[in-house]
Formats: sequence, C-alpha cells, structure tokens
Amino acid sequence: MCGIIGIAGHGAVTERLLDGLKRLEYRGYDSSGIAVLTKGQLERRRAEGKIKNLEVRIGNEPLDGQIGIAHTRWATHGVPNEINAHPHQSGRVAVVHNGIIENFLELRESLAGERTFETETDTEVVAHLMDIELAKGHSPRDAFATTLKQLKGAYAFGLIIDENPNEIYCARAGSPLALGIGDKEHYLGSDAMAMAQLTNKLIYLEEGDWAIIRPEDYEIFDENDTPVERETTIISGGPAMAEKGNFPHFMLKEIYEQPDTVTNTLTNYLDDLRQRPDMPAELDFKDFDRVIIIACGTAYYAGMVAKYWFEQVAELAVDIDVASEFRYRRPVLDKRSLFIAVSQSGETADTLAALRYCKDNGLKTAALVNVMTSTMAREADIALPIKAGPEIGVASTKAFTSQLTALAALSLAAAVARGKLSRAEDIRLTAELTSLPRKITDALELDGHIKGIASELAKASSAFYLGRGSQVPIALEGALKLKEISYIHAEGYAAGELKHGPIALIEDGTPVIILAPYDELFEKTISNLQEVASRGARITLITDSVGAEAAGQMAADMIVIPTSDPFIAPIMTTIAVQLLSYHAAVHLGTDVDQPRNLAKSVTVE
Ligand code: AGP
Repeated sequence: MCGIIGIAGHGAVTERLLDGLKRLEYRGYDSSGIAVLTKGQLERRRAEGKIKNLEVRIGNEPLDGQIGIAHTRWATHGVPNEINAHPHQSGRVAVVHNGIIENFLELRESLAGERTFETETDTEVVAHLMDIELAKGHSPRDAFATTLKQLKGAYAFGLIIDENPNEIYCARAGSPLALGIGDKEHYLGSDAMAMAQLTNKLIYLEEGDWAIIRPEDYEIFDENDTPVERETTIISGGPAMAEKGNFPHFMLKEIYEQPDTVTNTLTNYLDDLRQRPDMPAELDFKDFDRVIIIACGTAYYAGMVAKYWFEQVAELAVDIDVASEFRYRRPVLDKRSLFIAVSQSGETADTLAALRYCKDNGLKTAALVNVMTSTMAREADIALPIKAGPEIGVASTKAFTSQLTALAALSLAAAVARGKLSRAEDIRLTAELTSLPRKITDALELDGHIKGIASELAKASSAFYLGRGSQVPIALEGALKLKEISYIHAEGYAAGELKHGPIALIEDGTPVIILAPYDELFEKTISNLQEVASRGARITLITDSVGAEAAGQMAADMIVIPTSDPFIAPIMTTIAVQLLSYHAAVHLGTDVDQPRNLAKSVTVE
C-alpha cells in the first residue's frame, strides 16, 4: 500500500510530514515525496528509495510552509524512480494518491492533444484534470468535485493548489483516509499511525466522501457534494491501538484493507499502460509444461483456485497438493514443471520443505509470498511478492485475496506467453482484475447485512459450505475461516458431492452456505440447494443479482455480491465468507485475532 499524510496548519510542516512518512514506513516504499505551499507558492521535493533519501534532498534544498502533503510509495512494477514518485504535479496542482484509477487510460487519451504527461502513472491524470478545471476559472471546490466525478476506481487523494494557500483537498473511494483534528490545525492521513504524533482525534471519511481541510476548520461532502457531518473517533491505547484505527480487531481492519492491498498487488503484476500482465523477466511460462502449486491452509485454497485459472485460461496443467503430504508421496517430478510455493509468511515448515525437495530435484522454483525477506523468498529461484502489507490477524484475509489476485495475473501471463489468449480477451480479463478494488469496496457495503446472518449462524454447532468449480476452494476457505475463529465445526464440499454420503448429516435447521454467483454451473448448484433444502437445511445463498433473481425465495438468507465475471468471482465471494466468519466469532466472543491453538506461521512440521 502507499501512505498519505497532509497538514493544514500554522506552524512549519516539513519535519512533521517527514515524521508521518516514517510512521507509514511499515507499508514499505520505493520512493517518497513532499509538496508544500510556501507563501502560497507550490514547491515539491521527491526522492527514490528510503525516506532518509528524501530527508537528504530536503536538507540540500530546504522547503517549508504551513500547508503540505507527503507520500510514501510501495514498490510497484517497473523501475521505481523519482519521476514516478508522488506528489505528481501539473500546472498549479500537486496530488498524492493511494489506489488505482481504472479509467486513467481513456482519460489520458482524452487529454493527449492538450496535455504532456511526465510519467506513466495513473495519478498524474488527476493533477491534469484538476488543473484544467481551475484554468476554466472554476473555484477549487467546484474544480475538485468535477474532477472526482470523472474518475472510476478505488483511491484516496490529498491535493494542494498553487496560490491557494489555506486549503488541502482530499477524497476517499475504496482506499482508507482519515482527517485529524488538531489545535487550529487539521490533518489527513492513510491511517491513525500516520497522525499519531499530531492528534488522536480522527474522522474516518466514508465511501465517496471528499473534504477540504484548513488550519481553522474543515468541510466534508458526500458523493453527491452534500455537506455532511462524520463521527469523531478518539484513538486511545498508543501505537498498537492506532494501528487498528477505528477497528475492533486487526482481522476486520485487514478485511477492509483489501481494496487497498489488492490494488497494491495489481500494480505489481499489471502493466497499466499496456493493460496486460507484467511478469518478472526471469519467469517465462513458455519454458514449462506443468505447474506444481504447494501450500498449506488458506494458501492451499488459493492454489486450488489457481488450478482452474491456469488450466482454463492458459491450458497449462496444474498439480496441487498440501505441503504436508506432497514430498512424502514421492511425486513424479519433471524438469519442465514450475514449482510454486504459496505462503503468506514464507516460513511455513511443510511448504519450505516441499520447495527444497523440488529444488533438490532440479525444478525451477518460485515462492509467492507476503514477506520478501522470508526464507522461501530467499531460497526460491524466483520470489513473487503479493504486497498485502503486514497481516496481523492469525486468520488470513487480505493475504488470501492478494494471493488470488497475483495468481490470476500469473495465469493471464501464462496464457499470453503460451499464445492461448487473444489480445481482446487479455484486455477484458485484465480489466476485470483492475475492477477488483472498486468491486471489493462495494462488497464491503454488505457488512451490516452479513452481520445479521452471522448472528444466526453463531447458534449452530456445525455448518456446510458448498460450491462448484472455482467456488469449491472458497467453500473450503469459508469453512476454515468459521472453524478457526468461531470454533464452530464446518465442512467445505463440492456441491455435487454431498449426495454421495454427507447429505446424511443434513437435518432440520442445518446451516448450509452455498456459493453460487450466476454462471454455467449455477443451475446445477441450485439443484443441490433444493436437495438440502428439502431435508430441512437453512440455506444462505451467496450469489449476484442475476442469481438472486433466479433463486427467488429458495434461501432463508441471501448475500448479493457485485456482479463479476466468473474469472474474478472467487475473490468476490471470499469477502462474504470472511465477514460471515468474523461476525459469527465476534458474536460468540472468541479471540478473533489470536484464536486458540493457532499460530500466524507454523514453522514446525
Ligand atoms: C489461514 O487463516 C490460517 N491461519 C492458516 O491456514 C495459514 O493459511 C497456513 O498456516 C499457511 O500459512 P502461510 O501462508 O504463512 O504459509
């Protein structure tokens, strides 16, 4: 993720902005930058690499003022350099951005005749759009409102304007952004940590909100530009609490980070301008006839979904196995197989042992990890980052959707390399991936509804999760989530398999969660729904609007997720099962972030 901080104050801001960037350092970065209004004049300094490089740059070329914004950027694809560092500037406007502008290419093309672009980033287009509105004579407020309406995607912005010495404009759609309330000063930041030295009085902007902050006051508007009031939250309990922000648990915070973290994963694997997967040079899928994906737990379910993607999109065979079984079954290995270890921690003993086993047998090995300093990242031939940021909750959430996003991008890369995907289909599926942050943001709006369903589920002693096709691994993941944090027994099953025995367990009121977005398998899954409903099961159907229409009143509860292409549907249903398990656990009062008997990384066999 990237990190944003801004100060609209009376005192000097440069040192305090740099302090805020250091507090955002846990997010990682490849570059950082700052822009301030000095007597109303806009000045900018940026530097590649660590924040101390920016400090050196500022030491050599000091700048200061009372209004300023700053940004730290997480390593993305391509060479990280000063040119790509935020703040981006066009004319009178400097902007810092966290997120993804889905329609930046068409906006960029629409400006091609009148604007020269300095970078390949999506962010720069925002500065141009705002500058153009100002040049038309519109007020900064109207210019900002007009600019936001042209954008599609998940983003958080901070923006300042030359010769507009008292204001910072900011907006939130998908990526978190909070305002800070100070003593005749106001702030903005990606999270509470960024502003921990400035204030503990925060206002978390809601989806679609935008705001103007000044030293003496602030204004918040909703997506219809209507002035609104938002609740002030007092953060207490020091940095640890600040890290949770206004979330009661790290798990919920990390569920809500997913628009942000999926964005970060995408920017590492997709070449925005060419709208296609952008793979590491050392990974050429033409070299392989088969992929072997080995992992444990939730990571294993990500690999299971990837099997559908690689085989259906790239026509590349995939073997998949849990690490604890793989090497003991003496698998037949072929040197034209690519071994991929999937592991959030990069330290899971069973998965590491499988990686070493394949490396010793001469296979090319890759490790898809969240921790790039981990043992697997160091020992694999290729380290593939998922860039989800630190995952504190023991139950994996944002790492899982980032694993899926990275694997989906890899399957597209494999398809392109193997000549199995037309350019049009490549662009279409890439666009589906790019729409994920916005669609996950929409799916998170279902939280309150899901909480109600979970309170019923929490009364159960066991539950079934059913799916077909690439929803089977999500059924398994949903069952695992419920088990590991609420301690309710649950089983994930292929929906078509239940009638071969397990249906004997269905009795009056047995909760059955069915994952069935409308696709070619939907009708068959509905038949399975009817089989269990006729035996008294209490059905929760997770589907989309077309599926909901078709299912009518068959289910006791329905969770209607945003309509998505089947290619990304497993990522969308994941949000629902994560929230379902979280609220069931909270209802039961278990230790959600550190469930009994578990560890975040199992470093023993
Ligand atoms: C996920 O919720 C669990 N905490 C667990 O299954 C985890 O996915 C598994 O232990 C693998 O961990 P890793 O991704 O760090 O290798």
